[in-house]
Amino acid sequence: MQSVTRRQMLGTISLAAGAGFWSGFNNDSQSAPQAESKTAPVWDYTQLDEDSVAAEAYRLFADGGCMYGLFGAVVTGLARKLGEPFVSFPLHMMRYGAGGVGGWGSLCGTLNGAAAVIGLVEPDKQRRTQLVAEMFSWYETTALPVYTPQSPDNSPTLARSVSQSVLCHVSVHRWCEVACCDVESDQMKERCRRLTADVAAKTVNLLNCSLQDTFKFAGPATEVKSCLACHGKDDQADAFGTMRCNACHPLPKDHPEDK
Ligand code: HEC
Ligand code: HEC
Repeated sequence: MQSVTRRQMLGTISLAAGAGFWSGFNNDSQSAPQAESKTAPVWDYTQLDEDSVAAEAYRLFADGGCMYGLFGAVVTGLARKLGEPFVSFPLHMMRYGAGGVGGWGSLCGTLNGAAAVIGLVEPDKQRRTQLVAEMFSWYETTALPVYTPQSPDNSPTLARSVSQSVLCHVSVHRWCEVACCDVESDQMKERCRRLTADVAAKTVNLLNCSLQDTFKFAGPATEVKSCLACHGKDDQADAFGTMRCNACHPLPKDHPEDK
């Protein structure tokens, strides 16, 4: 058996790579080598209409749930205006988000879809984080659903509730309580479907503002900021994140007063 030393191995690899580079270059001296001629696809956002994206999200919900409906509506809108690479995006992957990720009741699929869209088109870390934060904060504090479909089948107006939480489980239960209906009922599904349209419109609204440089970042909610003043990383450092704390924590009896 021939034994190959690490040094010999590395030498062979770099030679092969070099040969590939030069042969590609020599075949056509006008063009760049193969590996470098591929330009990365550009996932730039362009202005979309909130109402038509909302209607499309409502429609697509029936085909794959909340995350799919939202993500599909925005990306299809971009594909119509810009073509590739949006046309080829494998939208089906977003079906996993339904029911708070595969029915686990964790992150609401509409928010998962919104954050995915933002992640796709916003390369700047700070702006991306702020857009997501603004989206989530709006979701926690807004009475939803607001959207009314063109031809409401059998439920013309729906009750509205403020979720106080980005979690599917909490959001759904709060709504069902207000609307006096069962989990997984037809009304609940219709509520989630309209909610998908609302969050889709908000996503487009935020991205349009960002594009026009009119996006304003409000920062975390006052309540959350007050909790984090003591529990955040600068003080006790025993709480991570910016979800609304009171969704899960009733304050202990002898809890210290606000700073
Ligand atoms: C003035 C500072 C301060 C503020 C503001 C504050 N906390 Fe606390 N919190 C404490 C201290 C000190 C303790 C007891 C020590 C500990 O366990 O962290 C505590 C305990 C807790 C505990 C129990 C922790 C345990 O060990 O069981 C929870 C839950 C909690 N706080 C949540 C909150 C929430 C939610 C808010 C905002 C509404 C908040 N805190 C605001 C200082 C504060
Ligand atoms: C989705 C529910 C949820 C939300 C929202 C949430 N927490 Fe918690 N938090 C928990 C759970 C569950 C634990 C772990 C409790 C345990 O194991 O005793 C925890 C742990 C903590 C602890 C440590 C308690 C300990 O025993 O040391 C603190 C302090 C705390 N959370 C504060 C906060 C603050 C402040 C916020 C808002 C920024 C917040 N939490 C948001 C569910 C939540």
